[in-house]
Amino acid sequence: MVKLGIVGALGGDEGKGKVVDEMVNYAKELNDGKRIIVIRFQGGANAGHTLYVKGKDGQLKQFITHSSPSGLASNVDIAIGPDVAFNPINFYEEITSAKEIFGFNKEVLISERTGILFDHHKMIDAYREDNAVKKIGTTKSGIGPFYEDNARRNTRITFNDYVSDNFSKKLKEVLDIKKLELEVIGIDISKYYNETILKHEKIRKELKKYSCRLEYKLQDYLKRDDHIIIEGAQGSILDINMGTIPDVTSSHLLLPYAFPSLGLSRKDFKIICVEKIYPTRVGSGYLPTLSEDGFGDSTVTRGGEFGATTGRKRRVGYPDWVLAKRAALLNDADLFYLTRIDVVQGEELKVCNEYDIDGEKSIEVPLELSLAKPVYMDKTFTFRLWENVDNVSKALEVHDELSPLRQKIIKGGYTNLPQGLKDFVEEHDKFVGCKTLGISLGPATGETVLRKEFLE
Ligand code: IMP
Repeated sequence: MVKLGIVGALGGDEGKGKVVDEMVNYAKELNDGKRIIVIRFQGGANAGHTLYVKGKDGQLKQFITHSSPSGLASNVDIAIGPDVAFNPINFYEEITSAKEIFGFNKEVLISERTGILFDHHKMIDAYREDNAVKKIGTTKSGIGPFYEDNARRNTRITFNDYVSDNFSKKLKEVLDIKKLELEVIGIDISKYYNETILKHEKIRKELKKYSCRLEYKLQDYLKRDDHIIIEGAQGSILDINMGTIPDVTSSHLLLPYAFPSLGLSRKDFKIICVEKIYPTRVGSGYLPTLSEDGFGDSTVTRGGEFGATTGRKRRVGYPDWVLAKRAALLNDADLFYLTRIDVVQGEELKVCNEYDIDGEKSIEVPLELSLAKPVYMDKTFTFRLWENVDNVSKALEVHDELSPLRQKIIKGGYTNLPQGLKDFVEEHDKFVGCKTLGISLGPATGETVLRKEFLE
């Protein structure tokens, strides 16, 4: 049975959504009558998964999820864990458009413990960012202020509060506690209270049916030996504890954190680190292998490297296996999935496999990442798959035209990939200590060389 945890190895935006989609398809192809559920376990609408789904009209359409698991696009059961910064309005819109675009009709489970992210969290986030001397470069989705309220306890509004008849009382109580903080940023509390009640009235009613004790519901999936996929958001260097403090997000995003909050056991799962072949970063924070020699710019153009949530241009670095190795360690990874391989075909790839920290060579990632200067392997890697395409949308436009060639390469499997690429993968796997399960060769689901034997 498919029991997987999927997590970003680097700075987010590694293409986890596509990987989830492919793993769901793998489970569907087993055709065993089992249910499939995809669970989001942390973070909020700071994440953005860009997916391409077939609409009711048969056309390929872009579908972006922020608040729901990207599994929504695969039309399978979905769940929201208690550590998620849940934006109900955003979630409702995504579910509604999934119904409209491709007729989503599966189970939705939301933990009664999940905290609700409101507009005031976003306003505080934006206010702080706009006025900060040293900015974090947040997505302004309210993530930091939300998790502060969760940790403060009496300012947490759970999903259970949200859908109950006590919601208005609870909201008032919380706004009273936060009165000073909200007034400082110019929020008129009584006006905001009335607007919030009104804004959420319909959605609270619509979402009520999804409230559950998720940890018990998931036991039912376990008992029936259904397929379970846990989906992470952001990437390992953004973890609140183990990331590049202070340029991190506010959640515990490493995959093993998912298990206690969902009542699941690590031993039942395989953990997959998704690594974009080149690391990217949006917002503040150092990227050791940042390219300043043209590789970055051409990769941004060819790879369409702009944030799905904020539209900001991502900074691009050369492959950094020191970061990848640490991601394997912290996530207790079993497998890797390399993405965006097609974007760098024809490029001469330098690979960082060591840092120079104050004159000392090390393969450890220091807390002060900016101290780490990349040391590159003597050899570089180059491979070519097919003619370059300019960017992702062009790749999609010409998807059908390119398909036969891509399909041929994909069907050829791992053995028939270009030698330069296989060398890269072999050395990578030796270095990080895990095998690579998937080699993603294009933006659309299925454009991947999948080594299914590693899942058996
Ligand atoms: P926040 O999560 O919005 O508070 O932002 C904190 C940092 O994490 C900023 O550098 C963001 O750009 C980054 N970040 C948050 N979510 C994502 C994501 O899904 N992908 C990439 N970076 C992210």
